Amino acid sequence: MTTGRCNCWTGKAAIYLLLLSALLMLAGCREDMQNQPYYRPLRESDFYADKRSERPLIAGTVARDHLNADTYFYTGKIGSNDGDYLPFPATAEVLVRGQQRFNIYCSPCHGEAGDGNGMVVQRGYKHPPSYHIDRLRRAPLGYFFDVMTNGFGAMPDYAEQVPAHDRWAIAAYIRALQLSQNASPSDVPAGVQIADAPPPGVNIMPPYDTQGATTAASTPPKPAAVPAEGGAPKP
Ligand code: HEC
Repeated sequence: MTTGRCNCWTGKAAIYLLLLSALLMLAGCREDMQNQPYYRPLRESDFYADKRSERPLIAGTVARDHLNADTYFYTGKIGSNDGDYLPFPATAEVLVRGQQRFNIYCSPCHGEAGDGNGMVVQRGYKHPPSYHIDRLRRAPLGYFFDVMTNGFGAMPDYAEQVPAHDRWAIAAYIRALQLSQNASPSDVPAGVQIADAPPPGVNIMPPYDTQGATTAASTPPKPAAVPAEGGAPKP
């Protein structure tokens, strides 16, 4: 007995064949579009007079979030003069951030104390001036921001690597370094104790050259009478 429903396999096969050929036709179209001419990034072009296939932005174009309208924040300048203030409050967090960024980006040449004796300089790079000379102690904060933003003489700029907010934090930290190198006990108000630990919640990295110094013994360990076999003598 038949149920009246068509379950003949030839009909189904015909439909699948139809679908398959439609898919093949679509794939054919994709081939055509995929093979259109294009440039690999930064490849030379014969079409443009300047030979660049990467086209520069049309003058006046501003990408989203790149409208640097707050000029002091982005230039450190008021008119054509360097300003001497931080465009946001100089909190402990800002100084800690500045210290961290300084140690990463500047200390390889300028040294962690800002004296210009960084490792890259010890290996032959041009010696930068110490931050503790009078001229740079008098230099306004905006000047340091400008040097980082545009470079100075042999020094490359750090605008790409260090965002504007961090450049200001570094400038603030350099000022703190300068004060630290020229401070006297009279700079501390009477009766005030200088903290020997960072404020709670603030994590300050010790300078690399003193790492582990706090755990080192103050006197050299005495050699054990009978050194343990294969092991270092225990103090
Ligand atoms: C690759 C080494 C190098 C690094 C890294 C470097 N500098 Fe310099 N910097 C120099 C040299 C070299 C000079 C001196 C340039 C000259 O006089 O031609 C200099 C000069 C300066 C000056 C003094 C400009 C003046 O008026 O004499 C400042 C301020 C300064 N750098 C800040 C920074 C800061 C902030 C950073 C980190 C963001 C930094 N530098 C990173 C090499 C470096």
